[in-house]
Amino acid sequence: MEKYDPLQSDSYTEHLAQVNKTKQVIATEDIFNNSGAIIVTKGSPITGAVAQQILRFKLTKPLHDTIQIEDELSGDSLYQHFEQFLQSQPDFQKINTTFLIDPIIRAECHFINMYPLLRQKLTVMSSQIPKLLSQTIATTWLSVLVAHKIGCDEQSIRSTFVASLAHDIGMLHIAPDIISKTTKLSDKEWRQIQAHSVIAFEILKNISNMPKDITLAVLEHHEECDGTGYPRGLFSSSLSIIGQIIGLADNVIAIYTKRLEPDNRSLRDVMPILQVSSRSHFYQTYEALITVLRNVDLLGEGVVSAEGMPIFIDDILHKNNQLNSYVEVYEQLLRSIPSTDQGNTCSRAQTLYSFISDAIRGSGILNDGYIRWLEQVRSEKLSFAYREMEDVFLMMEEIEFHLQKLRRLINDYLLSENCSKAEKELITTHFVTLDTIRKQEKPSSTDYSL
Ligand SMILES: [Fe+2]
Repeated sequence: MEKYDPLQSDSYTEHLAQVNKTKQVIATEDIFNNSGAIIVTKGSPITGAVAQQILRFKLTKPLHDTIQIEDELSGDSLYQHFEQFLQSQPDFQKINTTFLIDPIIRAECHFINMYPLLRQKLTVMSSQIPKLLSQTIATTWLSVLVAHKIGCDEQSIRSTFVASLAHDIGMLHIAPDIISKTTKLSDKEWRQIQAHSVIAFEILKNISNMPKDITLAVLEHHEECDGTGYPRGLFSSSLSIIGQIIGLADNVIAIYTKRLEPDNRSLRDVMPILQVSSRSHFYQTYEALITVLRNVDLLGEGVVSAEGMPIFIDDILHKNNQLNSYVEVYEQLLRSIPSTDQGNTCSRAQTLYSFISDAIRGSGILNDGYIRWLEQVRSEKLSFAYREMEDVFLMMEEIEFHLQKLRRLINDYLLSENCSKAEKELITTHFVTLDTIRKQEKPSSTDYSL
């Protein structure tokens, strides 16, 4: 993990110079470099040239403690972001109306005034990475809903609200070209991105009135119950509830905005996906969210046309075949590696695999009987089952995603010094078999959407 030093200037300095073009960003005191020389005088705006000067030195005080932004985000303007989010998302609005979340959010927004540094960070995010602020608003709204539904008390709901707003502020300290990169990240870049939860934790823990459950939740928002998360790869027994509420909400918003919305799918389609990954989350948080989604009449139209359905089912059958082959290979592979190892990589792989096989068994979608059902739906054109076909497809995609995570874990073990020569050979052989399965041609690439 990359180390964060609050006295070392980073991308946040450049963000401030950009913000200064539309809202004044002023030094509230003289800014010194670590040799004791003044590099910015009190009252100076943080222009591009000033930012370049700051970036040349290490400081004596974190930059964010020595500047002020004109017209920072207030409780009212924060609440407007939640209103805009609900107005643009009818499914979320429906949940909001059913479970009356809006009054809770409205009341919590004013507590932002207790944390001026968080207001500053969100103001910069709003101006520099507005998409990230939109995701933060959606995640916060969903986190508060889950906290409310599992019966959290007022204090815990407040902590959930503040921690959700703060969970990704670390991203402001990472180079924008890495954050916005759409091609594959290198290992180094991925480590830099992963550092965002630690950066946010380091920033928040230095705020004197910031409750510890908030800082911990922010640190843990990318940890997962199966031990495959970061930064510490903790298992469920060591994780805090608020961190896991935010983790679930963040995950659902990412699925919705990156996978479902672009395919014109509704929030309803989160359900089959979550069903497969339920063991990655605390049961109570998963159960609360699924219950909410089931009890609200969400738009449930599928996106595959009746004419396209036979080809779509062909693709499902192909995927089914591939997944069954993958599972067979992984079963053999996991029997041949230790159940625990020094770096815990093998325990994580074994735990993740047990979660995946539970999900597969629980859903029954890879069984012979289910394959016969798929064939029957296709040949007899059983339109009442078409919506189920789409659910199955989404579930299979999610299983594939978890199997990719499993492969990365086994690959980490392969590259570690704990892996013996015999194990290395065996893993490599199995990886070759997995690649052969992956390369098997799909029966079609036809567009079957409406
Ligand atoms: Fe994050």
